[in-house]
Amino acid sequence: MLLVFHDCIVIGAGLAGMRAAIEAARSGLDVAVVTKIYPVRSHSVAAQGGINAALGKTDSWEAHMFDTVKGSDYLGDQDAIEVMCRQAPSDILELEKMGAVFSRSAEGMIAQRPFGGAGYPRTCYLADRTGHGMLHVMYEQLLKHGIFIYDEWHVLKLVVEDGEVRGVVALELDTGKLHRLHSKAVIVATGGYGRVYRTTTNALSSTGDGMGLALDAGLPLMDMEFVQFHPTVLPRTGILMTEGARGEGGFLLNSKGERFMEKYAPSVKELASRDVVSRAEQTEIEEGRGVDGCVLLDLRHLGAEKIKSRLSQIRGLAMDFAGVDPVVSPVPVKPGAHYSMGGIAVDKDGQTALPGLFAAGESACVSVHGANRLGGNSLLETIVFGRRAGASVARYCEATEAKPFPDSALKDACHSVAMVLKRSGGESIYAIRKEMNDAMEDFCGIFRNSVRLKKGYEKIRELRERYKKAALTDKSECFNNELLGYFELGQMLDISECILLGAMNREESRGSHSRTDFPKRDDEKWLRHTLVYKENGEFRLDYRNVSITKFKPQERKY
Ligand code: FUM
Repeated sequence: MLLVFHDCIVIGAGLAGMRAAIEAARSGLDVAVVTKIYPVRSHSVAAQGGINAALGKTDSWEAHMFDTVKGSDYLGDQDAIEVMCRQAPSDILELEKMGAVFSRSAEGMIAQRPFGGAGYPRTCYLADRTGHGMLHVMYEQLLKHGIFIYDEWHVLKLVVEDGEVRGVVALELDTGKLHRLHSKAVIVATGGYGRVYRTTTNALSSTGDGMGLALDAGLPLMDMEFVQFHPTVLPRTGILMTEGARGEGGFLLNSKGERFMEKYAPSVKELASRDVVSRAEQTEIEEGRGVDGCVLLDLRHLGAEKIKSRLSQIRGLAMDFAGVDPVVSPVPVKPGAHYSMGGIAVDKDGQTALPGLFAAGESACVSVHGANRLGGNSLLETIVFGRRAGASVARYCEATEAKPFPDSALKDACHSVAMVLKRSGGESIYAIRKEMNDAMEDFCGIFRNSVRLKKGYEKIRELRERYKKAALTDKSECFNNELLGYFELGQMLDISECILLGAMNREESRGSHSRTDFPKRDDEKWLRHTLVYKENGEFRLDYRNVSITKFKPQERKY
């Protein structure tokens, strides 16, 4: 049972976590990253279509900002969005200097493709493997900066004493031992919680761990009711077919062969924002114009050469997982849970309300995405706000003395693990997890109403009770995935309840939150962020104003 000190511990080795760690290390801090999976398996590796920056001669950060504010259905904080859009070009160029490779235009510049909700082709890409390229470069930089990696360690607890962070307690997965990682500061960068849903593009590891840790430390999660459903995922597996496919000119067709987006978004069609396209698909499917519960993504007119050079990964995935070659046949697709607009409430420097605790990337809510994120803005958020969080931790550590690590923290964590392993005869965690997935997908999906949401809420409350008595069949110490799954499930149930509570209370439709019983946006009552706190095991809501600086809310049309 180790006790090790680092100035800063970063939880999560995706793009946001690694970018934050590199920035903090550049400032001279001793930084360590704790990650439950090998760093280059982090979910950022699956990002396909690209990263936004106003690099084009006639594009501007103001236009990028306007598109993002409009895409957010005016719920994004405009001061934060301004920071992201202004800093995007220099952050992309810095990535290039680190070694990131991008597809090029005929003139040799970084190529940019159109993406949904964007008034300009501003999404930089590496074919359809953008996240993969970026993550590997970031990992090289992590090694170059001598950052220590606790690989395949899962953080069980944020340690807080006298209102300040003191480090974490983590489980070493290959030995089952618990260790104390003592630090002045902690950065949470654990990504999203897509695995709460049945159909998701997210990796098995996307279980909202950091959001759960923050709730347990008394911090609020913000805007959790806003869940992004990506319009083009393969049925059953949830594998992503990048928005880049539509950016390159792909069509969406219904069972009658109609390009139905002409009806829902006459001016931009398939390149409306994701919430609009997913709702249109769901409507076509529910009104009987779907094809086996899907619509069709038709790329045939792009030609084999373009598909093979710019969309080669999704071609392979469609062939392997749907048995369809997009060069010759349309691909069946449907909406699937993809991204969390909500997360741990932080300021523009990644600072939470708890001294010493920072967050960045999808686990955080700055808020730059508001009620709906634009494609290409999540990779951007990871590098802009990852860098800013790293710099802000460096300032914090400079001004802060290390305080002792409390003895009780390890004892408490050991006790929780021992209790779970000792319990016998209880229900399986896998049964509870499946019921959670079904409840969230069936009652808190694209179209919501008070009856469905209440059913979902009651189901999750019931599952949280059953979870308390669940027992494991695997009592071993070495790579006990059932034990890891137990802790992940507890966090996912908490997160599900936060999503449902926020969704039940928000009696309007805005961005991805679409209530059939309240079909209109209601700025008078609901132009505000939702905050949810966990207190003594129960959840409490609060609200906060939205920062509006440049663009007054107006009706959103595409
Ligand atoms: O469709 C995609 O390639 C996803 C991009 C994103 O979520 O930003």
